[in-house]
Amino acid sequence: MAKGISTIGVLTSGGDAPGMNAAIRAVTRAAIYNGWKVKGIYRGYEGLINNEIKDLTTESVSSTIQRGGTILKTARSEEFMTAEGRQKAYDNLVANGIDALIVIGGNGSLAGAQIFAAEHDVPCIGLPGTIDNDLYGTDSTIGYDTALNTIMECVDKIRDTATSHDRIFFVEVMGRDAGFLAQNSAIAAGAEAAIIPEDYTDMDQLEQFINRGVRKSKNSSIVIVSESPKTGGGGAMHYAERVRNEYPQYDVRVTILGHLQRGGTPTAFDRILASRLGVASIEALNEGQRNVMVGISNDNIVYVPFRKAIKMDKPINKELINVLGVLSI
Ligand code: F6P
Repeated sequence: MAKGISTIGVLTSGGDAPGMNAAIRAVTRAAIYNGWKVKGIYRGYEGLINNEIKDLTTESVSSTIQRGGTILKTARSEEFMTAEGRQKAYDNLVANGIDALIVIGGNGSLAGAQIFAAEHDVPCIGLPGTIDNDLYGTDSTIGYDTALNTIMECVDKIRDTATSHDRIFFVEVMGRDAGFLAQNSAIAAGAEAAIIPEDYTDMDQLEQFINRGVRKSKNSSIVIVSESPKTGGGGAMHYAERVRNEYPQYDVRVTILGHLQRGGTPTAFDRILASRLGVASIEALNEGQRNVMVGISNDNIVYVPFRKAIKMDKPINKELINVLGVLSI
């Protein structure tokens, strides 16, 4: 057993992601199995600063594996970005007897854990919880698979209208500055193109798409547009507006999927991923690990130092770009 740990704290932070509850459940039960006490910290770092902390038991996390969102609630805390805020958070950790912290969240949340651990002597372990899949060192983040499936189902529905009316649809999806959701949902839903930041050049992607003759061989088409400003700015609206002005012969519509991509019951994949990572986070603490994100690479548990997980760009496999190109002729 790791020296000095008898109570851990767990929080979710940043955007909610399906599977976060499965992760909280796994962390809680694995810690209790290990003989430790567990405290749930509500509303992320904000709740740590405001001392919103309650005991978690095996029963507290019963019947949560199938629920979307996060039972611990979440927030993006401005105060935690200040040294004073982090000092208050640390004081509350000490007051509650918490010896180590498990943070479930995305890039910003793990960056918060990194700086907190550097300033205060608290072992922190991160779990990748974000639909964006943009954390380096793990093949998948908790929530990504569910969001991908949600987008696919939505695009399947949109296609009915696109086909019936012979329309071009620009569908905007989330992902912040990463194109994983856009690229892979485009493949899964049989879309004609994806506009993603990783593949963005100064070449006119709209012109390329039109010139590829998509409309010559098909009467309708769907283009998935990543929300990232790096795809030319303005997202799906921007491209639709351009089609209206430059190719007025086409009937064009826009769908911005928005937050419906973040909700819903997690897929089996996300539940299993979250369960494995939750258990692994307790094993990591037991092994004396600190300041690492626990991820899965080639089906193996890996420990990725915070600085790498946050700072390093996670590349999109170029083969995926080729697959979409080949299949959308
Ligand atoms: O990081 C998850 C995410 O859903 C991004 O894809 C998106 O850009 C952002 O959060 C939206 O954040 P909010 O819910 O705060 O508007």
